[in-house]
Amino acid sequence: MDNGRHPRAGTSDEAVAVLRRGGLVILPTETVYGLAADAANPTAVAAIYAAKGRPSFNPLIAHVTGLEAAERFARLDERGLRLAQAFWPGPLTLVAPIHAPEAVCDLARAGLDTVAVRAPGHPLARAVLEGFGGPVVAPSANRSGRPSPTTFADAMDETGFAAQAALDGGPCAVGLESTVVAVLDGPVRLLRPGAVTRAQIEALVGPLAEADGDAERSPGRLALHYAPNAPVRLRAEGAKAGEVFLGFGPSHADDGLNLSPVGDTREAAANLFAYLRAADRRRPVAIAVASIPDHELGEAINDRLNRAAGFVG
Ligand code: TXA
Ligand code: MG
Repeated sequence: MDNGRHPRAGTSDEAVAVLRRGGLVILPTETVYGLAADAANPTAVAAIYAAKGRPSFNPLIAHVTGLEAAERFARLDERGLRLAQAFWPGPLTLVAPIHAPEAVCDLARAGLDTVAVRAPGHPLARAVLEGFGGPVVAPSANRSGRPSPTTFADAMDETGFAAQAALDGGPCAVGLESTVVAVLDGPVRLLRPGAVTRAQIEALVGPLAEADGDAERSPGRLALHYAPNAPVRLRAEGAKAGEVFLGFGPSHADDGLNLSPVGDTREAAANLFAYLRAADRRRPVAIAVASIPDHELGEAINDRLNRAAGFVG
C-alpha cells in the first residue's frame, strides 16, 4: 500500500485547504489518529473507505467544535445535552437522530437516520475544525481490522499514502478510541466502551442498557478487529517459547513490555496499541497478554483485546 509519496507533517491551515478541496488529512486527536474528510462530500468519504479497506456499511464519526455545531445536524435530547456538556471536548461519541442529513452525507452514515458526533479535545484537531467550519468525519487511521494508530509514524504507515496533508500531534494522550453511546428512544445504550468509563456516564444518565446485539453495537463491526499480525493469547501468566509478553502491574515489572508497571488502567490504555505494534514487529509466534482487571478503563481495554484475539466482545 505504501507508494512512498506521503505528505510531510504540515500546518492546520494546509489541512483545512485540503479538506475544502475534498482531500484526506491525517488528523491527531486525544484518543487515536484519524483519517479525516469533509463530512458533506461523498467523494472524499469514499476515498476514506477505499484507503481503509473498510466495509462501506460501517458508519463514521462526525467531529465538531462543540455542542452548538453538533446541534446544527444532530438532535440531542436532554440526556445527550448533559453528556455533551460534561465530556466535550473529549473522548465521548453520541449517536443521535440526524435532522439535517446533508451535513453528514449518506455514505458517511452508511445510510442510517442517526449520526455519531463528538468534539475532540486535541488542540490541532480543534484548530482544523474551527478553520474548516463544518463537520469532519474521521475514522481511526488504521487499515480495516488493524490496531488504531496512536503515533504520527504509525498513522503514516497505515494510511498516510492516501492523505494529502498530515498533522503531527505527538503520541495520543488517551490511546484508546472514544466511548460510543446511543442516545435514542429508551435508556442510553453503550455501543463501544472507551476512554470515558461506564461509571462516569451512569453518574449522569443512570444505568446504561447494553447494545441490541453486535449489529447495533457497531453496525458492520467485525468480530476480528484491532488485530495485529501475530495471534493474541489472553490472560497469560508469562511468555511461552517464541512469544512476546505484554505484562500488567508490579508482578510483571521486570518483563520487556509492561502496559502499566504500577497497574493503572489509564496508563495501560495509552500504551495498548503502540505495544501491540511493538510486539508484532518482533514477529513472535504469538503475543501473550496478562489479565487486565475490568474496572475503570479495563472494560474498554478488554473489549479491544478480545477483538484482537478474535473473540466477539
Ligand atoms: O476516538 C475515536 O472515536 C476515533 C477518533 C479518530 O475520533 N475515531 C474512531 O472512529 O474510532 P471509527 O470509525 O474507527 O469508529 C466509529 C465507531 C464504529 O464502531 C461505528 O460503527 C460507530 O462508531 N458508529 C458510527 N456511526 C454510528 C451510528 N450512526 N450508529 C451506531 N454506531 C455508529
Ligand atoms: Mg476504528
